Amino acid sequence: MKIASIGSGNMGGTLGRRWAVGGHRVMFGSRDPFSPAIHELLQAAGPNAQAGTIKEAAAFGEAILLAVRPEDVERVLAEAGDLRGKILINCTNRYDGESADHEVRRLARNARIVRAFHTLPWEVLANPAYDAGNATAFLYGDDPAAVTAVARLAADLGLDPVDVGSADAMAQAEAANGALWGVLSPKFGREYALRVLRRS
Ligand SMILES: NC(=O)c1ccc[n+]([C@@H]2O[C@H](COP(=O)([O-])OP(=O)(O)OC[C@H]3O[C@@H](n4cnc5c(N)ncnc54)[C@H](OP(=O)(O)O)[C@@H]3O)[C@@H](O)[C@H]2O)c1
Repeated sequence: MKIASIGSGNMGGTLGRRWAVGGHRVMFGSRDPFSPAIHELLQAAGPNAQAGTIKEAAAFGEAILLAVRPEDVERVLAEAGDLRGKILINCTNRYDGESADHEVRRLARNARIVRAFHTLPWEVLANPAYDAGNATAFLYGDDPAAVTAVARLAADLGLDPVDVGSADAMAQAEAANGALWGVLSPKFGREYALRVLRRS
């Protein structure tokens, strides 16, 4: 798949690199596509990766990962332009009590938005394999084909995708995840992960 990552930091850099190494074509949309940091990222991501402006990356990607700080979301989405028909993967979180999901839905009305990867620290996304099985990634979106596509991208990373089914369900999953984070991260640091065991 052709994937754009707007943001090349912890989240965008990790996911974009792993997708490129796994055979997807990736373009990082950056404020400075020629920076030393992007150069280093492209070296690590290999021949399937390239960098461009945010607008170029948005035009390139069939799926676009939005991986910037919450305060930059509005500006980069304006720069990306019309995302009609594109899958927009929203992994951003806000820390002010407001919903990052609502904000991106308001700002990118034409996109096929899938909320995913935001419940996992980048260290787990870098390596989701544990002795007992792989880490679960909760996701949801209104467009079933887009959700299926992002679930496949999650599985390509070695994650165990679970569609929670609705925006309300995701808000509850996020709240539960956040509450557990408060309890578990003091014990296990940032690299613990949850897995949903179910009968198939
Ligand atoms: N870190 C985690 O473990 C984690 C987990 C779940 C969710 N999230 C969410 O994912 C999003 C990204 O987090 P992150 O940790 O990847 O952030 P980060 O490392 O700071 O990376 C953010 C990227 O945004 C781009 N950017 C665009 N405009 C910018 C500006 N004005 N100032 C600084 N950077 C700008 C930069 O890429 P260029 O320099 O190439 O433009 C930068 O690499 C956040 O919304 C965060 O809440 C993070």
